[in-house]
Amino acid sequence: MPVSQSTLHVINHLDRDYLRQALEHDVRTGLTATPKWLPPKWFYDATGSELFSRITRLPEYYPTRRELAILRTRSADLAAASGADTLVELGSGTSEKTVLLLDALAAAGTLRTYTPVDVDAVTLAAAARRLTDRFPGLSVRAVCADFERHLALLPRTGRRMVAFLGGTIGNLEPAARQVFLKELRATLRRGDTFLLGADLVKDTGRLVAAYDDAAGVTAAFNRNVLRVVNRELDADFVPEEFAHVALYDERHDWIEMRLRAGRDMRVRVGGLGLDVEFAAGEEMRTEISAKFRPEGLRAELVAAGFTIHRRYTDPAGDFTLILAGV
Ligand code: AVJ
Repeated sequence: MPVSQSTLHVINHLDRDYLRQALEHDVRTGLTATPKWLPPKWFYDATGSELFSRITRLPEYYPTRRELAILRTRSADLAAASGADTLVELGSGTSEKTVLLLDALAAAGTLRTYTPVDVDAVTLAAAARRLTDRFPGLSVRAVCADFERHLALLPRTGRRMVAFLGGTIGNLEPAARQVFLKELRATLRRGDTFLLGADLVKDTGRLVAAYDDAAGVTAAFNRNVLRVVNRELDADFVPEEFAHVALYDERHDWIEMRLRAGRDMRVRVGGLGLDVEFAAGEEMRTEISAKFRPEGLRAELVAAGFTIHRRYTDPAGDFTLILAGV
Protein backbone atom coordinates (compact mmCIF):
# COMPACT_ATOMS: atom_id res chain seq x y z
CA MET A 1 0.00 0.00 0.00
CA PRO A 2 1.49 3.39 -0.94
CA VAL A 3 2.12 5.72 2.01
CA SER A 4 -0.24 8.31 0.54
CA GLN A 5 -3.24 5.97 0.84
CA SER A 6 -6.17 7.60 2.67
CA THR A 7 -8.05 5.64 5.30
CA LEU A 8 -11.68 5.83 6.32
CA HIS A 9 -13.26 4.60 9.56
CA VAL A 10 -16.82 5.25 10.63
CA ILE A 11 -17.46 5.02 14.36
CA ASN A 12 -21.15 4.78 15.15
CA HIS A 13 -22.44 5.89 18.54
CA LEU A 14 -26.04 6.09 17.35
CA ASP A 15 -27.96 2.92 16.71
CA ARG A 16 -31.48 3.01 15.31
CA ASP A 17 -32.90 2.55 18.80
CA TYR A 18 -31.10 5.61 20.10
CA LEU A 19 -32.37 7.84 17.29
CA ARG A 20 -35.89 6.49 17.55
CA GLN A 21 -36.01 7.01 21.31
CA ALA A 22 -34.63 10.52 21.00
CA LEU A 23 -37.23 11.39 18.33
CA GLU A 24 -40.07 9.82 20.35
CA HIS A 25 -38.99 11.71 23.45
CA ASP A 26 -38.67 15.05 21.64
CA VAL A 27 -41.98 14.75 19.78
CA ARG A 28 -43.91 13.63 22.86
CA THR A 29 -42.39 16.43 24.95
CA GLY A 30 -42.87 19.12 22.32
CA LEU A 31 -46.39 18.23 21.19
CA THR A 32 -47.75 17.95 24.74
CA ALA A 33 -46.20 21.27 25.84
CA THR A 34 -47.92 24.67 25.84
CA PRO A 35 -47.03 26.28 23.51
CA LYS A 36 -46.11 23.33 21.29
CA TRP A 37 -42.63 23.02 19.81
CA LEU A 38 -40.37 20.60 17.92
CA PRO A 39 -36.55 20.69 17.97
CA PRO A 40 -34.77 21.68 14.73
CA LYS A 41 -32.59 18.56 14.81
CA TRP A 42 -35.34 16.57 13.07
CA PHE A 43 -35.46 18.75 9.94
CA TYR A 44 -32.50 16.92 8.48
CA ASP A 45 -33.59 13.71 6.80
CA ALA A 46 -32.42 13.29 3.16
CA THR A 47 -35.14 15.69 1.91
CA GLY A 48 -34.47 18.22 4.68
CA SER A 49 -30.72 18.17 4.05
CA GLU A 50 -31.36 18.76 0.33
CA LEU A 51 -33.76 21.64 1.13
CA PHE A 52 -31.19 23.15 3.48
CA SER A 53 -28.55 23.00 0.79
CA ARG A 54 -30.97 24.87 -1.52
CA ILE A 55 -31.47 27.45 1.25
CA THR A 56 -27.72 28.10 1.34
CA ARG A 57 -27.90 29.16 -2.34
CA LEU A 58 -30.92 31.50 -1.97
CA PRO A 59 -30.30 35.21 -2.61
CA GLU A 60 -31.84 36.10 0.80
CA TYR A 61 -29.82 33.59 2.82
CA TYR A 62 -26.51 35.39 3.36
CA PRO A 63 -24.84 33.37 6.21
CA THR A 64 -23.27 30.60 4.12
CA ARG A 65 -21.83 33.00 1.54
CA ARG A 66 -20.45 35.30 4.24
CA GLU A 67 -18.84 32.48 6.17
CA LEU A 68 -17.33 31.06 2.98
CA ALA A 69 -15.95 34.49 2.10
CA ILE A 70 -14.23 34.71 5.49
CA LEU A 71 -12.82 31.21 5.15
CA ARG A 72 -11.55 31.91 1.63
CA THR A 73 -9.46 34.83 2.81
CA ARG A 74 -8.56 33.61 6.32
CA SER A 75 -8.14 29.85 6.24
CA ALA A 76 -4.34 30.04 5.86
CA ASP A 77 -4.16 32.28 8.91
CA LEU A 78 -6.50 29.96 10.81
CA ALA A 79 -4.37 26.95 9.90
CA ALA A 80 -1.20 28.67 11.07
CA ALA A 81 -2.77 30.05 14.26
CA SER A 82 -4.23 26.67 15.22
CA GLY A 83 -1.29 24.45 14.25
CA ALA A 84 -3.88 21.68 14.11
CA ASP A 85 -3.18 18.22 12.69
CA THR A 86 -6.75 17.06 13.30
CA LEU A 87 -9.91 18.79 12.17
CA VAL A 88 -13.02 17.76 14.09
CA GLU A 89 -16.19 19.15 12.53
CA LEU A 90 -19.44 19.18 14.50
CA GLY A 91 -22.57 18.89 12.35
CA SER A 92 -20.43 18.41 9.26
CA GLY A 93 -23.19 18.16 6.62
CA THR A 94 -21.81 19.28 3.24
CA SER A 95 -18.06 19.59 2.81
CA GLU A 96 -17.49 22.84 0.89
CA LYS A 97 -16.28 24.81 3.89
CA THR A 98 -14.40 21.82 5.18
CA VAL A 99 -12.40 21.59 1.98
CA LEU A 100 -11.15 25.17 2.48
CA LEU A 101 -9.95 24.34 5.99
CA LEU A 102 -8.41 21.02 4.97
CA ASP A 103 -6.65 22.68 2.02
CA ALA A 104 -5.16 25.26 4.37
CA LEU A 105 -4.04 22.66 6.95
CA ALA A 106 -2.58 20.52 4.16
CA ALA A 107 -0.70 23.53 2.76
CA ALA A 108 0.63 24.29 6.25
CA GLY A 109 1.93 20.71 6.32
CA THR A 110 0.22 19.73 9.57
CA LEU A 111 -2.92 17.88 8.38
CA ARG A 112 -3.30 14.22 9.37
CA THR A 113 -6.85 13.46 10.46
CA TYR A 114 -10.38 14.66 9.70
CA THR A 115 -13.20 13.73 12.05
CA PRO A 116 -16.65 14.73 10.78
CA VAL A 117 -19.38 14.35 13.40
CA ASP A 118 -23.01 14.12 12.33
CA VAL A 119 -26.24 12.41 13.39
CA ASP A 120 -26.91 11.19 9.86
CA ALA A 121 -24.75 8.16 8.98
CA VAL A 122 -25.47 8.36 5.23
CA THR A 123 -24.49 12.04 4.87
CA LEU A 124 -21.45 11.35 7.00
CA ALA A 125 -20.15 8.43 4.98
CA ALA A 126 -20.72 10.24 1.66
CA ALA A 127 -18.87 13.37 2.80
CA ALA A 128 -16.06 11.31 4.29
CA ARG A 129 -15.57 9.37 1.08
CA ARG A 130 -15.42 12.53 -1.06
CA LEU A 131 -12.66 13.87 1.16
CA THR A 132 -10.54 10.70 1.20
CA ASP A 133 -10.58 10.92 -2.60
CA ARG A 134 -9.44 14.51 -2.55
CA PHE A 135 -6.82 14.36 0.21
CA PRO A 136 -4.35 11.52 -0.29
CA GLY A 137 -2.86 10.40 3.01
CA LEU A 138 -5.73 11.82 5.06
CA SER A 139 -7.07 9.62 7.82
CA VAL A 140 -10.83 10.15 8.03
CA ARG A 141 -12.37 9.02 11.31
CA ALA A 142 -16.05 9.82 10.93
CA VAL A 143 -18.14 9.75 14.09
CA CYS A 144 -21.88 9.27 13.96
CA ALA A 145 -23.04 11.05 17.12
CA ASP A 146 -25.26 13.79 18.49
CA PHE A 147 -22.85 16.65 19.24
CA GLU A 148 -25.06 17.96 22.00
CA ARG A 149 -24.89 14.67 23.90
CA HIS A 150 -21.74 12.83 22.86
CA LEU A 151 -18.91 15.35 23.06
CA ALA A 152 -17.11 13.13 25.56
CA LEU A 153 -16.94 10.33 22.96
CA LEU A 154 -14.99 12.30 20.34
CA PRO A 155 -11.45 11.13 19.57
CA ARG A 156 -8.89 12.94 21.72
CA THR A 157 -5.71 12.23 19.83
CA GLY A 158 -3.67 14.83 17.93
CA ARG A 159 -3.70 18.58 18.05
CA ARG A 160 -7.31 19.30 17.29
CA MET A 161 -9.27 22.15 15.86
CA VAL A 162 -12.95 21.60 16.63
CA ALA A 163 -15.04 23.50 14.08
CA PHE A 164 -18.69 24.35 14.64
CA LEU A 165 -19.67 26.36 11.58
CA GLY A 166 -22.68 27.83 9.82
CA GLY A 167 -24.20 29.52 12.85
CA THR A 168 -25.71 26.27 14.13
CA ILE A 169 -24.77 27.34 17.67
CA GLY A 170 -27.76 29.69 17.27
CA ASN A 171 -30.13 26.72 17.37
CA LEU A 172 -29.36 26.30 21.08
CA GLU A 173 -31.13 28.39 23.70
CA PRO A 174 -28.80 30.46 25.86
CA ALA A 175 -28.76 28.01 28.79
CA ALA A 176 -28.13 25.00 26.52
CA ARG A 177 -25.47 27.00 24.70
CA GLN A 178 -23.57 27.65 27.90
CA VAL A 179 -23.74 23.96 28.86
CA PHE A 180 -22.56 22.97 25.39
CA LEU A 181 -19.65 25.44 25.41
CA LYS A 182 -18.52 24.33 28.88
CA GLU A 183 -18.72 20.65 27.96
CA LEU A 184 -16.78 21.25 24.79
CA ARG A 185 -14.19 23.27 26.69
CA ALA A 186 -13.79 20.36 29.11
CA THR A 187 -12.89 17.95 26.27
CA LEU A 188 -10.13 20.21 24.91
CA ARG A 189 -6.50 20.26 26.02
CA ARG A 190 -3.82 22.90 25.76
CA GLY A 191 -2.98 23.42 22.07
CA ASP A 192 -6.45 22.44 20.87
CA THR A 193 -8.66 25.16 19.38
CA PHE A 194 -12.34 25.81 18.76
CA LEU A 195 -13.48 27.49 15.53
CA LEU A 196 -16.96 28.92 15.89
CA GLY A 197 -19.11 30.49 13.14
CA ALA A 198 -21.91 32.75 14.34
CA ASP A 199 -24.47 34.99 12.68
CA LEU A 200 -24.58 38.62 13.85
CA VAL A 201 -27.46 40.91 14.79
CA LYS A 202 -28.42 43.08 11.82
CA ASP A 203 -31.34 44.84 10.14
CA THR A 204 -34.53 42.96 11.04
CA GLY A 205 -35.85 43.04 7.48
CA ARG A 206 -32.81 41.21 6.15
CA LEU A 207 -32.95 38.68 8.99
CA VAL A 208 -36.59 37.86 8.40
CA ALA A 209 -36.13 37.65 4.61
CA ALA A 210 -33.32 35.11 5.13
CA TYR A 211 -35.83 32.84 6.91
CA ASP A 212 -38.84 33.61 4.71
CA ASP A 213 -37.52 33.54 1.16
CA ALA A 214 -39.61 34.50 -1.84
CA ALA A 215 -39.25 31.08 -3.49
CA GLY A 216 -40.70 29.31 -0.45
CA VAL A 217 -37.77 26.94 0.07
CA THR A 218 -37.54 27.73 3.80
CA ALA A 219 -41.30 27.15 4.12
CA ALA A 220 -40.87 23.69 2.56
CA PHE A 221 -37.90 23.02 4.85
CA ASN A 222 -39.98 24.03 7.88
CA ARG A 223 -42.93 21.81 6.91
CA ASN A 224 -40.56 18.92 6.25
CA VAL A 225 -40.32 18.25 9.98
CA LEU A 226 -44.00 17.22 9.84
CA ARG A 227 -43.24 14.74 7.05
CA VAL A 228 -40.43 13.29 9.16
CA VAL A 229 -42.81 12.82 12.11
CA ASN A 230 -45.47 11.34 9.80
CA ARG A 231 -43.04 8.80 8.39
CA GLU A 232 -41.08 7.90 11.50
CA LEU A 233 -43.87 8.01 14.08
CA ASP A 234 -46.87 7.10 11.94
CA ALA A 235 -48.52 10.51 12.34
CA ASP A 236 -51.10 12.13 10.04
CA PHE A 237 -50.06 15.78 9.90
CA VAL A 238 -51.21 17.50 6.69
CA PRO A 239 -48.16 19.75 6.10
CA GLU A 240 -50.00 21.97 3.57
CA GLU A 241 -52.45 22.96 6.33
CA PHE A 242 -49.64 24.67 8.24
CA ALA A 243 -48.35 28.11 7.30
CA HIS A 244 -44.65 28.95 7.56
CA VAL A 245 -43.95 31.77 10.03
CA ALA A 246 -40.58 33.50 10.52
CA LEU A 247 -40.26 36.35 12.99
CA TYR A 248 -37.46 38.15 14.76
CA ASP A 249 -37.62 38.32 18.54
CA GLU A 250 -35.75 41.49 19.43
CA ARG A 251 -35.80 40.78 23.13
CA HIS A 252 -33.86 37.54 22.71
CA ASP A 253 -32.00 38.43 19.51
CA TRP A 254 -33.23 35.36 17.71
CA ILE A 255 -35.22 34.30 14.67
CA GLU A 256 -38.09 31.99 15.41
CA MET A 257 -39.61 29.68 12.86
CA ARG A 258 -43.07 28.42 13.56
CA LEU A 259 -45.80 26.41 11.86
CA ARG A 260 -49.28 27.91 12.16
CA ALA A 261 -52.32 25.65 11.97
CA GLY A 262 -54.71 26.88 9.26
CA ARG A 263 -57.80 25.40 10.96
CA ASP A 264 -58.80 23.37 14.01
CA MET A 265 -57.32 19.91 13.70
CA ARG A 266 -56.66 16.73 15.55
CA VAL A 267 -53.44 14.94 14.66
CA ARG A 268 -52.89 11.28 15.45
CA VAL A 269 -49.30 10.25 16.26
CA GLY A 270 -49.77 6.48 16.01
CA GLY A 271 -46.24 5.60 17.08
CA LEU A 272 -46.75 7.41 20.37
CA GLY A 273 -50.41 6.50 20.90
CA LEU A 274 -50.99 10.24 21.08
CA ASP A 275 -53.73 12.57 19.76
CA VAL A 276 -52.84 16.24 19.55
CA GLU A 277 -55.31 19.09 19.09
CA PHE A 278 -54.44 22.27 17.21
CA ALA A 279 -56.70 25.32 17.30
CA ALA A 280 -57.01 27.41 14.12
CA GLY A 281 -54.16 29.93 14.19
CA GLU A 282 -52.16 28.05 16.84
CA GLU A 283 -48.41 28.33 16.33
CA MET A 284 -45.83 25.64 17.06
CA ARG A 285 -42.17 26.65 17.35
CA THR A 286 -39.80 24.60 15.18
CA GLU A 287 -36.51 26.50 15.42
CA ILE A 288 -34.70 29.36 17.04
CA SER A 289 -31.68 30.80 15.28
CA ALA A 290 -29.91 33.20 17.61
CA LYS A 291 -28.05 36.24 16.27
CA PHE A 292 -25.09 37.51 18.25
CA ARG A 293 -23.48 40.78 19.25
CA PRO A 294 -19.69 40.49 19.09
CA GLU A 295 -19.17 41.42 22.75
CA GLY A 296 -21.90 39.06 23.96
CA LEU A 297 -20.43 36.15 22.04
CA ARG A 298 -16.96 36.87 23.36
CA ALA A 299 -18.32 36.99 26.92
CA GLU A 300 -20.08 33.64 26.49
CA LEU A 301 -16.87 32.01 25.27
CA VAL A 302 -14.83 33.51 28.09
CA ALA A 303 -17.48 32.42 30.63
CA ALA A 304 -17.07 28.86 29.32
CA GLY A 305 -13.30 28.99 29.85
CA PHE A 306 -12.06 29.85 26.35
CA THR A 307 -9.54 32.50 25.36
CA ILE A 308 -10.08 34.33 22.06
CA HIS A 309 -7.17 33.92 19.61
CA ARG A 310 -8.64 35.37 16.42
CA ARG A 311 -11.85 37.06 15.42
CA TYR A 312 -12.86 37.69 11.80
CA THR A 313 -15.93 39.39 10.41
CA ASP A 314 -16.86 39.76 6.73
CA PRO A 315 -16.69 43.30 5.28
CA ALA A 316 -20.49 43.70 5.49
CA GLY A 317 -20.41 42.85 9.21
CA ASP A 318 -22.91 40.03 8.75
CA PHE A 319 -21.15 36.97 10.12
CA THR A 320 -18.23 36.21 12.43
CA LEU A 321 -15.69 33.43 12.84
CA ILE A 322 -13.88 33.08 16.15
CA LEU A 323 -10.83 30.93 16.83
CA ALA A 324 -10.62 30.26 20.55
CA GLY A 325 -8.13 28.35 22.65
CA VAL A 326 -8.12 26.86 26.13
C1 AVJ B 1 -28.16 25.30 9.78
C2 AVJ B 1 -28.96 26.04 11.88
C3 AVJ B 1 -27.38 27.36 10.68
O1 AVJ B 1 -30.31 28.65 11.61
O2 AVJ B 1 -29.73 29.59 9.74
C4 AVJ B 1 -31.85 27.89 7.68
C5 AVJ B 1 -30.90 26.45 9.62
N1 AVJ B 1 -33.22 27.33 9.22
N2 AVJ B 1 -33.05 28.40 7.39
C6 AVJ B 1 -29.92 28.60 10.43
C7 AVJ B 1 -31.96 27.22 8.86
C8 AVJ B 1 -33.89 28.05 8.32
C9 AVJ B 1 -29.64 27.23 9.79
N3 AVJ B 1 -28.56 26.48 10.53
